[in-house]
Amino acid sequence: MPPSLLSRLRSRTTTPAPAGDPRDRPAGPPSTAAPGSLAIDAGFFERFPEFYETSETSSFGWRLNLRHEAIFAANADLFRGARVLDIASHDGRWSMAALEAGAASVVGVEARPELVDNATANLRKYAVDESRFRFVAGDVFEVLARGDIEVDLVLCLGFLYHTQRHNELFTRIRQTGARHLVVDTEIHRSPEAVVRFAEEHVERQGNAVADAFSYGDTVLTGRPTLSALELLGRTQGFELEGLSDWDGLLRDNPDADQVRDYRIGRRTTARFRRS
Ligand SMILES: C[S@@+](CC[C@H](N)C(=O)[O-])C[C@H]1O[C@@H](n2cnc3c(N)ncnc32)[C@H](O)[C@@H]1O
Repeated sequence: MPPSLLSRLRSRTTTPAPAGDPRDRPAGPPSTAAPGSLAIDAGFFERFPEFYETSETSSFGWRLNLRHEAIFAANADLFRGARVLDIASHDGRWSMAALEAGAASVVGVEARPELVDNATANLRKYAVDESRFRFVAGDVFEVLARGDIEVDLVLCLGFLYHTQRHNELFTRIRQTGARHLVVDTEIHRSPEAVVRFAEEHVERQGNAVADAFSYGDTVLTGRPTLSALELLGRTQGFELEGLSDWDGLLRDNPDADQVRDYRIGRRTTARFRRS
């Protein structure tokens, strides 16, 4: 049997670590892409600059454009003709990208109604056919519990570490019938399958919202390790297929800023397939 992705990642030989914490390198194996092949000339969001204006959450040029490469270019085969669920769809940035990547339709779920309004306005501004998108304002746990969203591909981008209800979320994702799942998330750096708790305040636009399990304006959140992420997927029938090549993206775009979390392996982009 071939060694699992995780065992290969653990036994990887890495380029010598710079002075400082030896863990300060992108999660995943060293890049095997040809040097320069991942350099970005014109990023996706230069074609859709409205998204720089409609979010207060990490809408920096390099960050958004490199995330676009890691999420969409690396997984281009998943989008053509797919029905997509965009969890925590924010101002519609990744729903737009999914449709541009060839998705047949997208449904976004976002708890903050003003962001749903921004998302709808953004897709209209870029003249996307109204039959191809739908944004639902609501708590993703409540919306998915209704059981009426059926898709081929789920995007869970920038959300997993804003909750500690991970198993529930993966259950709901499985129940959509999706064959694939792409998760872009902060991770805790440890080889163990653990989740690191933190507290988050609901005032910030990019944070969790209050729900039935929060108290006051504070929500308990959890950041999984890569091992925990793999286990979360596996126990709900999703195999971790691979991580996007952040090592190569950062090597080939040396001027990139606002991406330190990916650079030091505190964030990654993972692709799962239904096993
Ligand atoms: C860090 S932002 C990520 C935005 C975007 N998906 C991205 O990756 O760039 C987190 C988003 O999750 C939304 N959110 C927080 N809790 C939510 C919940 N329970 N259900 C749906 N959306 C939620 C926030 O309003 C915010 O738009």
